[in-house]
Amino acid sequence: MKKTEKLMIKSMDCNFICSSVLRRPFLTFFLIFFCFLCTANASFNLSTISFDEGYTPLFGDGNLVRSPNARSVRILLDRFTGSGFISSKMYKYGFFSANIKLPGDYTAGVCVAFYTSNGDVFEKTHDELDFEFLGNVEGKPWRFQTNLYGNGSTFRGREERYRLWFDPTKEFHRYSILWTPKNIIFFIDEVPIREVVRTEAMSSEYPSKPMSLYATIWDASNWATSGGRYKVNYKYAPFVAEFKDLVLEGCAVDPIEQISAADSCSEIDTRLATADYAVITRKQRLAMRRFRQRFMYYSYCYDTLRYPVAPPECVIDPYEKERFKDTGRLKFGGSHQGNKRRSRRRGRPHNVADSVDQDM
Ligand SMILES: *[C@@H]1O[C@H](CO)[C@@H](O)[C@H](O)[C@H]1NC(C)=O
Ligand SMILES: *[C@@H]1O[C@H](CO)[C@@H](O)[C@H](O)[C@H]1NC(C)=O
Repeated sequence: MKKTEKLMIKSMDCNFICSSVLRRPFLTFFLIFFCFLCTANASFNLSTISFDEGYTPLFGDGNLVRSPNARSVRILLDRFTGSGFISSKMYKYGFFSANIKLPGDYTAGVCVAFYTSNGDVFEKTHDELDFEFLGNVEGKPWRFQTNLYGNGSTFRGREERYRLWFDPTKEFHRYSILWTPKNIIFFIDEVPIREVVRTEAMSSEYPSKPMSLYATIWDASNWATSGGRYKVNYKYAPFVAEFKDLVLEGCAVDPIEQISAADSCSEIDTRLATADYAVITRKQRLAMRRFRQRFMYYSYCYDTLRYPVAPPECVIDPYEKERFKDTGRLKFGGSHQGNKRRSRRRGRPHNVADSVDQDM
């Protein structure tokens, strides 16, 4: 099983592998799972932009290195600073996407984040949608989490944590966030891995103010890897995350006025709603389900110690629920400890039980 999980699958290889697998009945469920991911894997029709067309450096300028044609950018963490970039505009609804290669070897304590936020403009009532990659000790696979906050709901984390079905340090994979008035979808390559459908009960906890796109690499020693057990070891620096094939689709809106582009927004919103990535096929839905059953190891929706009543957007899947303890963690193995520990990133608490990775 382990070996299969480590298989590197390029979309080019996909059909080949799938067809040969399907010809061999003795191959396992796992391989069939790959085929589900593969068949969901028809490429999106995306128009990519250069770094300068859509983004500006955010911090650690010296550690942000553009390729000569600015079609790709590397952000580095060394013992002096991390680095990051931000979209030059803010968007109300959009599709934010990049092909990303994460730093390899020993990356404990290193966090690479690809997220949307408006925390710089709305300090107390910010919205946020996150991919956060939590480094790991050499030889152990990267883990990551997705999260969302609406209108400053930092008291209510909505984290899910997962493993990956490939090694994200070996090749580029596409990570995307779709945010529409109706739903939010996180994608890896063309596989939707999480969908949050807006419900009335979510009210303002559904992100609904303009957000910027951020990409950062930073030292999260006290939090990222096994709840802070493993720190960044700068002997292995610099840690380099590379971003290319950047996509920013959405209506650019002034965050304060919010009215500026109303006319053109409806056109862009329609385009977003009808884009190929916004229309989830049956195959993609199956792939999502399988991904979640196989690779998700924590979900706030099943963490009944934290939320005796699951937040309103949670769709309780009986099969998924069966796999989790009351702590939202997988049932097998591990202890439950230290879930009061918190750490901060730019002032906001990460209130997922930090020990969650120690169990794995
Ligand atoms: C891809 O999108 C462009 C516009 O962004 C469109 O002109 C083109 O027809 C699309 N291609 C396919 C195969 O849908
Ligand atoms: C967002 O939160 C602020 C402060 O808690 C509150 O005043 C405001 O009404 C909320 N916004 C919405 C749309 O509910």
